[in-house]
Amino acid sequence: MKIAVLGYGTVGSGVVEVLSLNRENITRRAGKEIDVKYVLDLRDFPGDPVQNVLVHDFQVILNDPEVEIVAEVMGGVKPAYEYVKACLENGKSVCTSNKELVAKHGAELLEIAKQKKVNFLFEASVGGGIPIIRPLNQSLTADEIMEITGILNGTTNYILSQMHDYGYDFDTVLKKAQELGYAERNPEADVEGYDACRKLAILTSLAYGKQVDFEDIYTEGITKITTEDMKYADAMDAAIKLLGIGRRENDKFFAMVAPRIIGKKHPLYSVNNVFNGILVKGNMLGDVMFYGSGAGKLPTASAVVADIVDAAKHTGTNIMTIWSSKKLALSDFAEAENIFLVRVPEEEKDAALAVFGEVKEVKADGVAGEFAFLTKKMTEAAFEESSRKVTVKNRIRVEI
Ligand code: HSE
Repeated sequence: MKIAVLGYGTVGSGVVEVLSLNRENITRRAGKEIDVKYVLDLRDFPGDPVQNVLVHDFQVILNDPEVEIVAEVMGGVKPAYEYVKACLENGKSVCTSNKELVAKHGAELLEIAKQKKVNFLFEASVGGGIPIIRPLNQSLTADEIMEITGILNGTTNYILSQMHDYGYDFDTVLKKAQELGYAERNPEADVEGYDACRKLAILTSLAYGKQVDFEDIYTEGITKITTEDMKYADAMDAAIKLLGIGRRENDKFFAMVAPRIIGKKHPLYSVNNVFNGILVKGNMLGDVMFYGSGAGKLPTASAVVADIVDAAKHTGTNIMTIWSSKKLALSDFAEAENIFLVRVPEEEKDAALAVFGEVKEVKADGVAGEFAFLTKKMTEAAFEESSRKVTVKNRIRVEI
């Protein structure tokens, strides 16, 4: 079976490497040999054997009927969307790691794949090498998914873990993460939570079978988390994690990405550094958790190649995935209920008590001149209104 790889960056070169290193095993599992006939990239790679299959013109791949599967690992929506759509319409299955593409056009591309009796698979788009898309589609089908809570971004998890363990501030660890190659040179998508938001949009769309637009998900990043916040988390025997949460409460659906304080007993507490973890709650199954490398060349490529194997095994058959383009009505964020850790200047203690009523004070070693407390469970709207009446130094939602 001939395949093509669109993009010879980190993941693309990983896909070629995995196919070559595990060739025997992959052939056995796919039931046929899988050969990379083309790699598309704008660049040349002198001295790399990829040169023998490198093309610069996408049309060569699109118009070659021998190519049955295309791995799209370029990232970004343009021109990936146009290329993927054309491949599916030409009867080629597509496997992608591209979360921007899947979050924005997943429903439409799945529909085209269904009509053309091919497959559009995207295991690598969420959680890198962690199997989560296939379990949601195929293993957890007996359950109503009540909640998905995930640490969905390795870069921010690394930053928060290092701040927690060594007391470094955000900027210092971000620099370190960039030096180690974890964070992008422009780290905005990671640290502002946009990357996690797109991944949560994909997971909630799949869990509830309808389109969740990432633009509708309330998203907060980690740039405002300070060393003082970490000291409070420590005093509470807890950690701060950037969590993407999609939750069903009766007929209401909530989705939010924000940093949260989680206690030692929370299943995601021990997911540290660049690892990702995804906790799914089913109404029959209870809790199930997926843990592993959420990013990186070989883990991500491993998930892309597993999709290629699946596509090879399902030639001529569409693997049904329920994701309608109809929008899932998310409940108003203002109605979501949370407990907050709030920090105000010491002189505003009385004012804070008057505004928030019954609260629980939290003290942290090494932090002075302020009053910190846990609110009772309150709606975002009520919190917003109360917090306007005092000087809030910082507030973090608590999941204990
Ligand atoms: N920047 C992403 C992360 C890469 O840090 O998790 C994987 O999507």
